[in-house]
Amino acid sequence: MQPKTIYEPFRIKAVEPIKLATRQERQRVLEKAGYNLFAVEADDVLIDLLTDSGTGAMSAAQWGALMQGDESYAGSRSFYRLEGVVRELTGLEYVLPTHQGRAAERILFSILAGSGKVFLANSHFDTTRANIEYSGATARDLLPREAQVPSTILPFKGNVDLAALERSIAEVGAENVPLIILTVTNNTAGGQPVSLENIRGARKIADRYGIPLFLDCARFAENAYFIKTREPGQQDRSIRDIAREMFRLADGCWMSAKKDGLVNMGGFLAVNDPDLAAKARNLLILTEGFPTYGGMAGRDLEALAQGLEEVTDENYLQYRVRSIAYLAEALQQAGVPLLLPPGGHAVYLDAKAFLPHVPQSQYPGHSLACALYIEGGIRTVEVGSVMFAHVGPDGKEVYAQNELVRMAFPRRVYTQSHVDYVVEVLADLYARRHEIRGVRIVEQPPFLRHFTARFEPIAPETADLASV
Ligand code: F0G
Repeated sequence: MQPKTIYEPFRIKAVEPIKLATRQERQRVLEKAGYNLFAVEADDVLIDLLTDSGTGAMSAAQWGALMQGDESYAGSRSFYRLEGVVRELTGLEYVLPTHQGRAAERILFSILAGSGKVFLANSHFDTTRANIEYSGATARDLLPREAQVPSTILPFKGNVDLAALERSIAEVGAENVPLIILTVTNNTAGGQPVSLENIRGARKIADRYGIPLFLDCARFAENAYFIKTREPGQQDRSIRDIAREMFRLADGCWMSAKKDGLVNMGGFLAVNDPDLAAKARNLLILTEGFPTYGGMAGRDLEALAQGLEEVTDENYLQYRVRSIAYLAEALQQAGVPLLLPPGGHAVYLDAKAFLPHVPQSQYPGHSLACALYIEGGIRTVEVGSVMFAHVGPDGKEVYAQNELVRMAFPRRVYTQSHVDYVVEVLADLYARRHEIRGVRIVEQPPFLRHFTARFEPIAPETADLASV
C-alpha cells in the first residue's frame, strides 16, 4: 500500500506547553500591545506563525552535537567540521561564520556597495535591501510581471526576469553592478522557488558581463525540493545533488542558518574569490569575532554542521512542504483567498481579497492579522502597507502592491492537528469577514514602523465599510 498520509517523520522527545487563553484575554492583551503583534508576549500566543526564523526544533543529533562543541578561540575543531560541510555542499572555498544572515550581509555590502552601485536580484529580502541602501547603493527587484499576481499559479514564481536583468545591466553599466543576487527560495515573493534553469540563465548573464552571482540561500533545501518535484528532468536526482548544483552555479552565498540550517541562531558567508574573502575576514574580526568562530559559539557551529547535513533529507522536506500545501488546500476549500501556489515555508493570505470592504488606508493585512490573533491566538505578520508603504511626493501614503498576511511555519515544531486548528479558525473568520474592521495608526517611528507602531481599530460608525 502507498500511504496517502504524510506524517511527521520524527518522534517528539521534549515538549513545551502552550498556554491556553480565552478570546477575552487575548482582546485585552492586544489592546495593551497597541494592536501590534510584535508587542505581544510569546506566552500569550497559541500558534506562533510570526516567522520560521530561529524558531525550529533541533534534532537529538543536533542536541548531541552541542556537547561536542570545541570552544577554542582559535582553530576550533567545530569550525573545521562546519567548514567541511559547507564546502561539500556549496563547493565554495572560504567560509566565514556569522551570528546570523544580516551580519553576513553587512560585511559583504560594506565591501561591495556604496553610492552609484546597483544590485540586481529576483527580490531582495528586507535586511538585504536595508544593508544595500544604507551604503547609498540601490537594490532593484526583477520579478517577472506575471509572478506578482497573487492568484497566478506558476511552478517557479520566485525566478528572476532574465530579460529584465540584461536590460538593467545595459542601462546602469556592468561596472556598476557588483552582484547579481538570487534569493532561494524567494521570501519576499511568497517563499516561491527559483528553477535550476533560471539559475543557469542568471549564470550565463553573469559570465557574459563579468558580474559575480551570489545566492541568498536561507531556504536552499526547500528550493531544491521544489526543483526535484516541479522541474522537468530533475525527479530522479537527490535533493543534495540538486542543492550542490545550485551552489556550484554561484560565485558565493550567504545564509541565515536560522532557516534551513535548522538552528536557532547562526549564519555564514562563503565565497571563492580570495581577495573578497580576505577583506570580509578583516571585517569579520572587527565586528563578529576571530575567523574560526565568527559570530558563533563552538557548540552552535557543531549544531549547524549537523543541521546542514539533515536538512536535505527528502522525508523531512516532503513533510515540510506537504504540511504547508495541506494548509493551503484546506483554506482554498473554505474559499479563503491565498497567494498561490503556497511557498516552502509559509502560506500567505491575500488580505485585499479577504477583506474587500477594508480600504488600503485602513490596512487590511494588519486588520486580518489582529483578528486572527483575537479569534484563535494565532500570530502572523502583515506583509503589506504597514510594512512597505512610503510617502509619495505629494505627502500622501503610497500603498503596497499587495496586502498579504504571512503564516510562516517553524521547522519540526507543529503537527497536523495544529494545522487543522489554524484551518478551523480561518474558515470561521472568513465566513464572518464582514465583521472585521480596519485599523488606524496612532503612533509610528520614522522607519521600520511595523515593529513598533501602535494602532487602534476603527469604530464601526466611522469606518468606511462598503459591505456592512
Ligand atoms: N535573507 C532572507 C531570504 C531572509 O529570509 C532573512 C531573514 C535574512 C536574509 C536575514 O537573516 O534574520 O538571520 O539576519 N528572514 C526572517 C523572516 C527574519 O522572518 O523571514 P537573519
